[in-house]
Amino acid sequence: MLGNFSYCNPTRLYFGENALSKLNKELAKYGKNILLVYGGGSIKKTGLYDRIISILKECDKTVFELPGVMPNPTVEKLYEGCKVARENNVDLILSVGGGSCCDYSKAVSVSAWCDEDPWDKYYLRMEDVDNKIIPVGCVLTMVGTGSEMNGGSVITNTESKLKIGHVFGDNVFPKFSILNPKLTYTLPKYQMVAGFYDIFSHICEQYFSGTDDSTSDYIMEGLLKSLIHSSRIAVKNPEDYEARSNIMWTATWALNTLVAKGKTTDWMVHMIGQAIGAYTDATHGMTLAAVSLPYYRHICPYGLAKFKRFAIHVWNINPEGKSDEQIAEEGLLALKNWMEEIGLVMNIRELGVTEDMLEGIADATFILTGGYKTLTKEEVIDILKESM
Ligand code: NZQ
Ligand code: ZN
Repeated sequence: MLGNFSYCNPTRLYFGENALSKLNKELAKYGKNILLVYGGGSIKKTGLYDRIISILKECDKTVFELPGVMPNPTVEKLYEGCKVARENNVDLILSVGGGSCCDYSKAVSVSAWCDEDPWDKYYLRMEDVDNKIIPVGCVLTMVGTGSEMNGGSVITNTESKLKIGHVFGDNVFPKFSILNPKLTYTLPKYQMVAGFYDIFSHICEQYFSGTDDSTSDYIMEGLLKSLIHSSRIAVKNPEDYEARSNIMWTATWALNTLVAKGKTTDWMVHMIGQAIGAYTDATHGMTLAAVSLPYYRHICPYGLAKFKRFAIHVWNINPEGKSDEQIAEEGLLALKNWMEEIGLVMNIRELGVTEDMLEGIADATFILTGGYKTLTKEEVIDILKESM
């Protein structure tokens, strides 16, 4: 049965190969001072930086640059951004990059005018925002996180080895996001497929929970099938516009809060993946890929009916003459084959995890209770060992 909920998604999307031409229209809504947030330089290599700067100049904006946002943005980088945003009285933060830039921009947006340490307030104590929020706009260059249309913001504290996501309210969602699938063509294959698996995992985290007949489950099965189909095309031909645009759109729907409405969710793959990220700085989507199968095999007996449904509805497994366990296992096998086919990392050793880290990673894993089995620390360690 659907639980009670309210739904609002305030992000305006501009989608398609001409989407960037709508940036002027959005910029006109904000004051003069723009903080341009970007990563390690991909936007300079692709020429996107020059295009953005010329649009900002046309719109007569004063631009303050905040480059160097790293994958898995750190708390030190957040402090730096807060200083720049406050000192220059920024009117809009324009994030040009992937989920890391967008997450980081949201973190600066709520932290620049915060009197307390934002790491303590938002990420350790998970408190609401009660100070001025700087609006964020996004030009997306990497597909996966869904950050372009949600309030999520993940920050890493390298000193305490914690990677924590805060899901802020809809007043922190990007005001607008520009989604041009062609801007993602330049992604290296490793990043591209890591993003594909991030999308897959977001859907599964919301799918593998609850035993009711939820409309969301049918939507998610459709999203998964579209993603599987398009990913196979995209790995062979990264410039297939139809496949890349479908994947970009699926990524947004996978985590723009809609499919989670009225149902319970799991998120343990992400909790374990984030703890691995805090220890290794590995690519987010790959951390999820490397632990997913051991995790799903571990919880499958507790959520057997759903794993059977996943096998039949998503992977077209023929159930005739088979036990529920066999059907579920065939579904997981089909998942494994697809993961290998698109080139994901299938073990955490390859991401830099060593045996002596396992205890610490398990300690850094937040245990959530929405899945089919609430894990103990020992079970997290078992799953990590299986993932080696
Ligand atoms: O930094 P640059 O030079 O731009 O290079 C980036 C980066 O190295 C590169 N890249 C991005 N677009 C490119 C490109 N290279 C060539 N051409 C392009 N068009 O790709 C690398 C990865 O970028 P990043 O932004 O780090 O990747 P992603 O979008 O996967 O973001 C990952 C972060 O998002 C968080 C993750 O934990 C991680 O910190 N997440 C945010 C979520 C949310 N807001 O809801 C949910 C997710 O589960 C996730 O946790
Ligand atoms: Zn994710």
